[in-house]
Amino acid sequence: MKLLRPLFVFVALAALFVSARAAEPGASLILDATKPGPVINKNVYGQFAEHLGRCIYGGIWVGEDSKIPNTKGYRNDVIAALKNLSVPVLRWPGGCFADEYHWRDGIGPRASRPAMINTHWGGVVENNHFGTHEFLDFCELLGIEPYVCVNVGSGTVQEEMEWIEYMTSDADSPMANLRRKNGRDQPWKIKYVAVGNESWGCGGNMTAQFYADNYRRYNTFVKNYGANKIQRIAGGPSDFNYEWTETLMKSAAKQMNGLSLHYYTRTTMGWPPKGSATEFDEAQWLNVLSNTLKMEELVTKHSAIMDKYDPQKKVALVVDEWGTWYAKTPGSHDGFLEQQNTLRDALVAALNLHIFQAHADRVTMANIAQFINVLQAMILTDGDKMVLTPTYHVFEMFKPHQGATSLPLTLTSPDYTFGENKIPAVSASASRDKDGKVHVSFANTDPAKAITVACTLNGVMAKSVSGRVLTAGVMNAHNTFAAPHAVEPAAFTGAKFDGGSLTVTLPAKSVVMLEL
Ligand code: AHR
Repeated sequence: MKLLRPLFVFVALAALFVSARAAEPGASLILDATKPGPVINKNVYGQFAEHLGRCIYGGIWVGEDSKIPNTKGYRNDVIAALKNLSVPVLRWPGGCFADEYHWRDGIGPRASRPAMINTHWGGVVENNHFGTHEFLDFCELLGIEPYVCVNVGSGTVQEEMEWIEYMTSDADSPMANLRRKNGRDQPWKIKYVAVGNESWGCGGNMTAQFYADNYRRYNTFVKNYGANKIQRIAGGPSDFNYEWTETLMKSAAKQMNGLSLHYYTRTTMGWPPKGSATEFDEAQWLNVLSNTLKMEELVTKHSAIMDKYDPQKKVALVVDEWGTWYAKTPGSHDGFLEQQNTLRDALVAALNLHIFQAHADRVTMANIAQFINVLQAMILTDGDKMVLTPTYHVFEMFKPHQGATSLPLTLTSPDYTFGENKIPAVSASASRDKDGKVHVSFANTDPAKAITVACTLNGVMAKSVSGRVLTAGVMNAHNTFAAPHAVEPAAFTGAKFDGGSLTVTLPAKSVVMLEL
C-alpha cells in the first residue's frame, strides 16, 4: 500500500494535467447568416480633421507653392493613401476649434484672409488658408461626404445661416453669389451638419438644458436649400454623462437626426492624458484595451435612454470623437496632441469598430480622432515623409464591412488575464456584402497566446476562405519614417475551412479579416 501510493498520486496528477490541457479554453463562434441584421453604415468608418497641430497644415494641406508634391495644395502621398482607405465621411473644422471658427475668415484670396489665434491648440496663429473651399474641394476630390460643425459657442445664428447658404444654395442670393465670386459656381452638397461641439465644455460650458434650447434655436436656421437635405447632429454627451443625453432627447429629439457621443480611450492615470504611446508594459496594454471596451457600455446605455424618446431609432448615435489619447510624443508641441500609433492602437480600432457594428441599428456614424498627425491617426507626416499607422491598416482591412449587412454572431471567448484584470480575449464581427461574400473580422487581445476559434456557420454558402492578419512580434510595434513596414497586413493562413465549419487560429495580439 505504501509503495502504491506515490504511483497513484502520479497517475492522478497526470490525469488531471491531461484533462486540464484538454479543457484549455478555445473560443467558439456561431454565425447565423439566415437572420441578417441591420446594414453597417459605411460612415462608421468616418474620420475627423480639426485645425489642430499638424492635422490640416502639413497633414492634408501644404499649399500650391510647396516643394512637397501636391495637387492644388493637397499632399499627393496623402491623397493616394486616403483613396485606398475609402474614407466615407470627414468631420471638420473641429472639435473645440469649431466653436471659435468664423467661416468668413476662410474664404476669398488666401493672401488677404485674416489670421486668428487658435486658442485651444497651442495658441498658434491660424492663417485660414484652409477654409470652406479647400475643405469641400478636398472632400469632392476624394469622394468623401463632408460633415461640417457650425459655431454655436462664439458664433451667431446669422453667421451659421449664411454659411449654410454660402455652401449649399443655388439661388441668385447674396451668399451664393459671394461663393461664385470666390470661384465656385455650383453649390456643394452638405449632408451632415453638427450644431456645436462639446457645448458642455470647450463649446461654451453650457448646461444641458441651456444647450438643448440653443440647439433648437440654431437648428431652426440650418436650412435646406434646393435639393440639399441636411441631417442635423446635436452636440451630445461625453463618456458617462447620461443626464446630458436624457435632457437633449427629452427637449429636442424631434429636431435632430443624430446625437453625438465622445469617448476617448486613456490609461487610468488621470488627466491630462498620461502614459506613453509606445513605451508601455503588459499592465498598460491591458489597461488601455480594457478602457476602450467601455465603449460597449456607453453605447448601450446612451442608446437605452434614446430608446425611451425615440423607440423607432430615427435618431442616430453619432460617435464623432473616439480613439486613444496618450501623453504627447516627447519633444512635440504641447498643444498639438501628437502621438505614435502601435499594434495596441490597432487592437483599439478593431474592438471599437466591432462594437459600433454590433450596434448598427443605432450607431450610423463614428469619426475617429483624428485623421492625420493628431491622436489616433491614420497617417503621420514629417516634411515630405509619410507613414501609415497600424490603425490605418485596420480601417483598410475592414473596408468590406462598410455598407454591408451585419450578421448576428454568438461568441464565447476565454478571458485574457493579467494580474488582477481581465477582458475577453476574442472579439469578432461579421457582415455580408452586396455580392454575397461574408467577411468575419477578429481581434485577439492576448499578447502572448494564440487562440483557436471553432466557428459554426449557418446559412453561409462558402467554398473557400482567405484572409489577412495584422500582428507583430512585440506589443508596441509601430511604423516609423525609417521603418515604415514594421506593422502591416500579411496573408493569413490560420483559417481552415471544411464544409460548414471553420477553424481559425488567431495569433497572439492580432487583428484578422477573413473573406468567405
Ligand atoms: O480631438 C481633440 C479634442 O477633443 C476636440 O477638439 C474636442 O472636441 C475634444 O475634447
